Amino acid sequence: MAHAYSSDSTKPTQTTNFTRVNASTGVIHSAISTAYSRFTPNIISLSCALVLTSLAIPNIAQAKTVNVASPDKHISISLTDDNGRPEYQVQFNGKTVVNPSKLGLVFQQLGEFGVDFSIKDVKNSNVDQTWQLPWGERENVRDHYNRIVATLSNGKVDFDIEFKAFNDGIGFRYLVPKQAGLANTPKLDITDELTEFAIPNPHTATAWWIPGRGWNRYEYLYRTTSLDKIDRAHTPMTFRTADGVHLSIHEAALTDYASMVLNQGRDGILRADLTPWSDGIRVKTQPGFSTPWRTIQIAKDAPGLLNSDIILNLNEPNKLGDVSWVQPGKYVGIWWGMHLNENTWGSGPKHGATTSETKRYMDFAAKYGFDGVLVEGWNEGWDGSWFDNGDVFSFTQPYPDFDIDAISQYGKSKNVRLIGHHETSGSVTNYRKQMSDAYDLYKKHGVTQIKTGYVADGGDIKRVDEQGITRHEWHDGQFMVNEYLHSVTEAAKRGISINTHEPIKDTGLRRTYPNWIAREGARGQEFNAWGSPPNNPEHTAILPYTRMLSGPMDFTPGIFNLAPEGLDAVNRVQTTLMKQLALYVVLYSPIQMAADLPRNYVERLDAFQFILDVPTDWSESKALAGEVGDFVVFARKSRKNDDWFIGGLTDENPRTVDIALDFLTPNTTYQAQIYRDGAKANWLTNPYDYVIEQKVVSAKDKLTLTMAASGGTAIRFKLIK
Ligand code: NOJ
Ligand code: CA
Repeated sequence: MAHAYSSDSTKPTQTTNFTRVNASTGVIHSAISTAYSRFTPNIISLSCALVLTSLAIPNIAQAKTVNVASPDKHISISLTDDNGRPEYQVQFNGKTVVNPSKLGLVFQQLGEFGVDFSIKDVKNSNVDQTWQLPWGERENVRDHYNRIVATLSNGKVDFDIEFKAFNDGIGFRYLVPKQAGLANTPKLDITDELTEFAIPNPHTATAWWIPGRGWNRYEYLYRTTSLDKIDRAHTPMTFRTADGVHLSIHEAALTDYASMVLNQGRDGILRADLTPWSDGIRVKTQPGFSTPWRTIQIAKDAPGLLNSDIILNLNEPNKLGDVSWVQPGKYVGIWWGMHLNENTWGSGPKHGATTSETKRYMDFAAKYGFDGVLVEGWNEGWDGSWFDNGDVFSFTQPYPDFDIDAISQYGKSKNVRLIGHHETSGSVTNYRKQMSDAYDLYKKHGVTQIKTGYVADGGDIKRVDEQGITRHEWHDGQFMVNEYLHSVTEAAKRGISINTHEPIKDTGLRRTYPNWIAREGARGQEFNAWGSPPNNPEHTAILPYTRMLSGPMDFTPGIFNLAPEGLDAVNRVQTTLMKQLALYVVLYSPIQMAADLPRNYVERLDAFQFILDVPTDWSESKALAGEVGDFVVFARKSRKNDDWFIGGLTDENPRTVDIALDFLTPNTTYQAQIYRDGAKANWLTNPYDYVIEQKVVSAKDKLTLTMAASGGTAIRFKLIK
């Protein structure tokens, strides 16, 4: 059988071991009779962690179970067909963390690929290789796993299920190759995916989750409940078992397929629920496809989830070639003023995106060393009710008071880039029609980064189909999965990076398309301006363990005037000032905004210094301590020099955390520039009490981080020459 799907192009470089195993041999797991047995008994010695068991009963196909373990043997997966359908199970340190769970796909044209399919063939291999990120949390990423690919058959058609067992979790996916049995089915419509995650003891597991397929997409406050209380959740969905194991379910490499939310059936049975097209079909595909990877990160503690690269490792390598034009950096912008109602996106006396205001921001950016200035509201369309009709937007026609030629010239003279903005309001056909011209215009003006926006309720993306009929799609259905990626690849042709707001969730595609530089995809800072309600103190103590496991987020930290309408107002930031600084290290993004108005930074230049010093591109990152929803401490090393940085933050509870500085280079001294909450600080009544102090430290030292209620600490460790 020809396997025509495009496989992961990962090339094993250090160790590879590939064994073909005949599946009808071995020892009993349990016996099930089905109609055929097509294999000659032939035991092949197994390498790495694969064990294959079944009972040889002449002329009856047997139940088979194949196992694969992680390189360190802590995680093991078994795949069986002994209930008359494929099921998998996962153990961690000898305890079951995923009970036997169904696998399979349902096609409109063919029915179910699952029940009555049995394992006919298994291949195994292992890989240990290291690859480089052009920009990221670290320079080198180790990809180390054992793998099995099982071919399942019902005698008429075959499909494959591939499992990878890493030390930090597992990934699996389905592959339906082109084959003779599908010659008459050129189109395949998936009506359901049967994948389950059956979690033992759901009543005693704690889950952190946001609702899936709601009107506000991914922009919800997290719920902390026992796992059985989830109804339908977005991924990454993170949970902790009663004995302290931390797991997170997500997906990797989501392309040309629908996104998966988790729908709870019986208690603990989380089912993959693929977001449908407007016509109800989940995925429109053809023979020779593979699904995204279903991933389960597994760690003995909360920081273990953060020190994992599974999602990136399950994506294909960079397809764009030389991406030196993709530049991490820091930016300011004409943005917060609109959210505070000081300015407007639309024309009029409060119009923010004017030539003079943009030049003023460019002056500020140049003075303090920022790379770019984001300008929203520069183009025609913002007047009136753009939220209800995104077709009003022009992406090539600036407002008359925004002189794009003069502005881009001015930016060049100041060595500050204009950062582009396209709000589509979810009217994607309108955007598609103008996309080439819009990207060409920005390219002509030296713009290398565009923030895009898809503000529309979940399920209300407007597209006009080939017949001219208007359809309404979900942000995370297959249509939009492709639409978002289309904008990224079109931008790449012009050397432009994309920062998507109201995006599809991140599934690690930045590895394959490094110009997909960041995205939103969770509640960001903007909610604090609107107060609808603002992000609560635990929000950024949950994000690292949930949303951030998927990839960088354009959260837009750094608000210094925490309560423009007073500390008692609803629309205020519920953190101390120091926690705003810590966010630059905690919430990874290669592009970080200093989101507040320039005047608020000028008032507190001492604290602003940390934002000026902190890099956005790292050679190493380590989560040092944390508990989901309570606190987190990260250490990261600059790519440019030997500086290390720490960011630590806490929820509503003040806390001290002892940190060993053994990550620093040994036998060297550093000046620790510490930005911490003052003794009287708390987010509610005294968020501006802070201390900036210096200490000489080395790798042998320990530091105690003292954080106020919803406070934080930010530290720069500057190498002393
Ligand atoms: C929502 C985005 O998240 C925000 O940053 C932007 O200012 C508005 N949409 C308008 O495009
Ligand atoms: Ca948003």
